[in-house]
Amino acid sequence: MGYGYGGLLLLVLAAGLPPTAFGWMAHFRPSKLRLPMGNSTQVQLFLGNVAPSTLQQPDRFVFRLQSLNEGLARVPEENATIPLSLFDPQTRDWSGPIVIEAHFLGLTNVTVRLHDLRLNTSELPTNWSNDSQLEVTVQRPNRVLDHIFLGSIIVLMSLLYINFGAALNLEVLRGLVTRPIGPCIGLVMQLVGMPLLSYALGVFIFPQSPAMQLGLFFTGISPSGGASNTWAAVLGGNIHLSVLMTTVGNVAAFATIPLWTFTLGQLIFERAGMEVPYRKIATYCAGLIVPLIIGLVIQKRSSRLTRVLVRLLKPISATLLLIIIVFAIITNYYLFYLFSWQIAVAGLALPSLGYIFAWLASKLLHQNAADALTIAIEVGIQNTGIAIFLLLGALGSPVGDITTVVPVAVAVMTPLPLLGIYVYNRCCRHKISEGSAGEAERIV
Ligand SMILES: *[C@@H]1O[C@H](CO)[C@@H](O)[C@H](O)[C@H]1NC(C)=O
Ligand SMILES: *[C@@H]1O[C@H](CO)[C@@H](O)[C@H](O)[C@H]1NC(C)=O
Ligand SMILES: *[C@@H]1O[C@H](CO)[C@@H](O)[C@H](O)[C@H]1NC(C)=O
Ligand SMILES: *[C@@H]1O[C@H](CO)[C@@H](O)[C@H](O)[C@H]1NC(C)=O
Ligand SMILES: *[C@@H]1O[C@H](CO)[C@@H](O)[C@H](O)[C@H]1NC(C)=O
Ligand SMILES: *[C@@H]1O[C@H](CO)[C@@H](O)[C@H](O)[C@H]1NC(C)=O
Repeated sequence: MGYGYGGLLLLVLAAGLPPTAFGWMAHFRPSKLRLPMGNSTQVQLFLGNVAPSTLQQPDRFVFRLQSLNEGLARVPEENATIPLSLFDPQTRDWSGPIVIEAHFLGLTNVTVRLHDLRLNTSELPTNWSNDSQLEVTVQRPNRVLDHIFLGSIIVLMSLLYINFGAALNLEVLRGLVTRPIGPCIGLVMQLVGMPLLSYALGVFIFPQSPAMQLGLFFTGISPSGGASNTWAAVLGGNIHLSVLMTTVGNVAAFATIPLWTFTLGQLIFERAGMEVPYRKIATYCAGLIVPLIIGLVIQKRSSRLTRVLVRLLKPISATLLLIIIVFAIITNYYLFYLFSWQIAVAGLALPSLGYIFAWLASKLLHQNAADALTIAIEVGIQNTGIAIFLLLGALGSPVGDITTVVPVAVAVMTPLPLLGIYVYNRCCRHKISEGSAGEAERIV
């Protein structure tokens, strides 16, 4: 026995290695794993070069597998502990299958530690290599419903942009020339104010979570939503002005979305440790130009179809938003586990501050009551469909899925202040609101 140890010591000395050469190793095969949520799989784990002194004390030492975030992925209890009794005393190693269960969207690492039960300490593999831990990415479950959801978003967005193309005629743009101040306030607030506001709110509300900042930022840089036209009508605003701003804003978004993503957005991507998906964002924006051009061609060719399309613009865009939100909630119901008070606050703050700032700016620049209300509605309501479309498309699963919770929250919260105004008008200012609605009808 003593001779054996002496021989080993000689061997170590002869190799010129310090005694710490007994660094134990762990190798996961594979060492990177992508799993759909709710599924599980097996990986091979190899543990080797464990010190003989450790192996001789099986009651004191034990290997344990641990996930950095047990809520995302974990090793089941029966696989989480590997006793030393399983090791081959000759080769001082062990290898075997380990089950990994994926529970929720996200990224986590599974590590193996050597626990010293007597000293109550543990250590990571002392001879660390790039496969000594398992990086697990839990993705969206691969269901037919999710493909239908993505497909329907693309189809509905295309329809919306065909309509914008059809509506973008000289008559609409003339409003921009004859009375430019109102639309310009709205567009500047929408295309410059909201992105800055969403960036600041994101940093303020989610200082620790760049992913949520991205969700809010993409909602902020989205153009104004089609629901704004409906709300402008309901609350007695200037519908003509609303349609003008929605159309011009959504077309201008082709330039402003990439611009904001590649400047201010880059800062958030850096904090999130992600590459800016330049090509994907460019592709998705360019993808929406095609339906816009189809709409323009229809407008040139057939004035009857154009009239039908323009008339359909309002109902289509309102239904579109409703379908996307309902669908997003149904397919991603599990995202509600992510719902926190921060997300609710962000969802309410973005549109509310948008309404308030835009209304103040309009008042400062002497817009009449109906126009100020319209501009506020236009700026506050975001096209959350575009935000979801970009997040899912450009960021991929799981980050894209996790971040869509923010635009969904914004979409759910956006109508609340407007509903408040509506109820207030009905109860307390019945006559005044009727008067301004009449004025709006005349303008249209
Ligand atoms: C770590 O492992 C590698 C190969 O598995 C081996 O070549 C190296 O000597 C080891 N280092 C130590 C400090 O044990
Ligand atoms: C896990 O995925 C496999 C194929 O990828 C599938 O056949 C199986 O049904 C899934 N299991 C669960 C529980 O979803
Ligand atoms: C892990 O669990 C699987 C199935 O339950 C089993 O085949 C495997 O031997 C277990 N591995 C360990 C190290 O216990
Ligand atoms: C997992 O490990 C990788 C590589 O060491 C690291 O970049 C990443 O941040 C880790 N992930 C988590 C969730 O800690
Ligand atoms: C072991 O240490 C951990 C913290 O490192 C502590 O929470 C735990 O209570 C300790 N257990 C014992 C038995 O001392
Ligand atoms: C680990 O490093 C080796 C080379 O040292 C490389 O061949 C292998 O692809 C790397 N594995 C991972 C998961 O990065």
